[in-house]
Amino acid sequence: MDKMIIHGGAPLKGAVTVSGSKNATLPILMASLLTDEPCTIRNVPRLRDVNTALALLRGLGVQSEWTGDHALAIHAEHVISHEAPYELVKTMRASFFVLGPLLARVRRAKVSTPGGCAIGARPVNLHIIGIRALGARVQLRGGYVEAHADQLRGARIWLDAPSVGATENIMMAAVLADGKTTIENAAREPEVQDLAKFLVAMGANVRGAGTHVVEIEGVERLHGADHEMIPDRIEAGSLMVAAAITGGDVSIRNVPVDQLEAVIVKLRETGVSVIAADGGVRVTGGGALRPVELRTLPYPGFPTDLQAQMMALLTQANGTSVITETIFENRFMHALELMRMGADIVMKGPTAVVRGVPRLQGAPVMATDLRASMGLILAGLSAENHTEIGRVYHLDRGYEALDAKLSSLGARIERLKDSAPA
Ligand code: EPZ
Repeated sequence: MDKMIIHGGAPLKGAVTVSGSKNATLPILMASLLTDEPCTIRNVPRLRDVNTALALLRGLGVQSEWTGDHALAIHAEHVISHEAPYELVKTMRASFFVLGPLLARVRRAKVSTPGGCAIGARPVNLHIIGIRALGARVQLRGGYVEAHADQLRGARIWLDAPSVGATENIMMAAVLADGKTTIENAAREPEVQDLAKFLVAMGANVRGAGTHVVEIEGVERLHGADHEMIPDRIEAGSLMVAAAITGGDVSIRNVPVDQLEAVIVKLRETGVSVIAADGGVRVTGGGALRPVELRTLPYPGFPTDLQAQMMALLTQANGTSVITETIFENRFMHALELMRMGADIVMKGPTAVVRGVPRLQGAPVMATDLRASMGLILAGLSAENHTEIGRVYHLDRGYEALDAKLSSLGARIERLKDSAPA
């Protein structure tokens, strides 16, 4: 199992560039199933989750080839299977996104349900309600969702919660349906907007992505498209916290500043300087950190995917911060590990009360998921002595070349490679 050793205390300095967005890339790769023509996707991050998505698509008959460091040619000329097996879905929940495109393209899909997750129950009921509304017949059998429809038909769908994945899956099913689909209480995340942009480039008729109501007028067929992925707002936010927590001074390039308003506001409230310029930000820490209150919310609120990182920062504030997690019910696992490093955190239901301490101390800790890993790395960067983070393979799922990026800024990081689990 991979471990990371971090020798804390070095203020990060220099410049670093944010990679393409993981959570925008995954559904867009699945959307390539919607056409028999080739597509080109650029600025694709080289991540384990991207490889998992490509392996899943390969099993369905989709050919893909890296044509540049971050450019991918992808072609679903012949779809030879409609099954997403448990082995892949259990390693990456986003595999469930093939449900909508498969139904639209070949009118049937057999997709394993994802099962439990380290951060919460994460049900897929809204995805299923959505495709049922579009006329699919759906059965749950042997851990699989089996769906088919001779012809999907547009429908009005109201989502109980503005689920990112359900909005994306339903959009991908609806683009080839007969008639108009309206998704109400849709997720407004930038990743949903990027998917809509790709679908429109393929010839789909999608309006309203980025608002609470997405309207899709079905078309008969889609064609190939060329698309450049948006930068990863969560990676950008994580790097901003890295500069802040080490009292560093880092210029971060390729930052989607307008998508990070809630995060920048909170960082500034702590006293960190964030100056936006030339498509990037310069983040300077070093002063005493003030405590803040924050609540994770659907976009444009503070993202749950940056909660662990922000908690790490607030362990260093001069006073008591309050963090409320409203998206996932079990997303405080990193708090227990931070406490092993000397953080003072009390959790009650969805709320964590973080009392700042002068300095964390390095300790062996264990990462439970991708963003928790990042929270622990950030804590380790600022801690006394060295921090040893286990199960750091989670990181490779979602942060491209993170060790190299942080090392280039002066972080002292080593990776002890062991055989990572599949
Ligand atoms: C996406 O997950 C992201 N994953 C997550 O990033 C992110 O944390 C999350 O959105 C919220 O922003 C990808 O894009 C691949 P949701 P998703 O459906 O789509 C409830 C990371 O670290 N819900 O918006 O699965 C659900 O339980 C990951 O990169 C239902 O009740 O999230 C949650 O409380 C982790 N029924 C809320 O909605 C459903 O059918 C939001 O979940 C679906 C969701």
